[in-house]
Amino acid sequence: MPSNLKLAGDREIMTHHKPLAGRAGIVTGGALGIGGGTARRLAADGAEILIVDIVEDAAQRNAQRIIDAGGAASYMVGDVAQEDVAKSMVEKCVDEYGRLDILIQNAYGGSVGRDGSAVDVEPDAWRSGMDLLVGAQFLGAKYGVPAMEASGHPDTFEVPEWKGAGRRHGVPPKMEVGRIVNISSVHGLLQAPRALVYEAGKAAVVGLTRQMAVDFGPLGITVNAIAPGHIVTERGEAMWAELGNDAGFGLFERHYPVRRTGVPADIANAIAFFCSPDASFITGVVLPVDGGMSIQLQENIVMHTKDYIVANPDLRTHFDHGRLG
Ligand SMILES: NC(=O)c1ccc[n+]([C@@H]2O[C@H](COP(=O)([O-])OP(=O)(O)OC[C@H]3O[C@@H](n4cnc5c(N)ncnc54)[C@H](O)[C@@H]3O)[C@@H](O)[C@H]2O)c1
Repeated sequence: MPSNLKLAGDREIMTHHKPLAGRAGIVTGGALGIGGGTARRLAADGAEILIVDIVEDAAQRNAQRIIDAGGAASYMVGDVAQEDVAKSMVEKCVDEYGRLDILIQNAYGGSVGRDGSAVDVEPDAWRSGMDLLVGAQFLGAKYGVPAMEASGHPDTFEVPEWKGAGRRHGVPPKMEVGRIVNISSVHGLLQAPRALVYEAGKAAVVGLTRQMAVDFGPLGITVNAIAPGHIVTERGEAMWAELGNDAGFGLFERHYPVRRTGVPADIANAIAFFCSPDASFITGVVLPVDGGMSIQLQENIVMHTKDYIVANPDLRTHFDHGRLG
């Protein structure tokens, strides 16, 4: 296991530059893991954050951690696959912070009971999986986008003078009205066997993101997706401690050109960039944040991995326990 695992972008909230000052945002699944680290990072960047999660104590703890560090955060308990939750999280953000600028659609609860091919998966498991993986992101945008429009750009945004190169018309387009970041996965780009629901759902997030980018660009709202590689979260670390060993973790790391797996801060950094004013001309992209894992030719990796496995016959990973395909 890696030592001194830093789980999130825990920079000094009081001293850090604040490119998101004056903005308010929602992070779904913002209690733990990638969402937890993202909530802390966006708060460090100056945004007021509403955490929406099904685990109340962890949501409360993360909000308190942000407040203790000098940021602004609150939380709400709810399953974001439910329409009433999507609606009320947007209302709560607007009630509490007066606006909505940022929507990070990250929540997912794992694939227990949803594994298998199209032959294995029960129709109810398909529906509930798609409702959370894809449906929640649709609902978040359905209620979030009108609230972003109503909020307009933040007071801190200075509309540029609209003339000169590339600016042919007198009226500037709508700008800095909102940012949506949808969390896909390397599983949305590359398929793992016997994981129909997750793989199809994460691939659908790519299409949903591109569609939303086209639909909401004219409103001044950018929509991008991130495809994380293997990110060790609080839960992932506990799973590795239980089911894996150092040699097994090393096997994982060898599949990454940068020779490490990720931590939530790696994803939070990319999300913070998409939300920043610097990213205003970027929309509809799917950014792999995966240490290069998804650009390697697989057949070479297999041959390199063979030697490692032969040299480490006692390696254990979560795959050995039938957890994943
Ligand atoms: N960890 C990885 O290796 C990895 C890789 C690629 C993509 N992802 C994606 O990143 C996102 C976050 O994953 P993570 O690894 O941080 O998971 P995690 O389990 O550590 O955290 C997920 C958070 O979402 C919450 N949540 C679950 N279901 C919810 C629901 N219905 N409504 C509201 N909140 C809910 C959980 O309580 C938890 O706080 C997911 O979309 C996941 O598919 C993770």
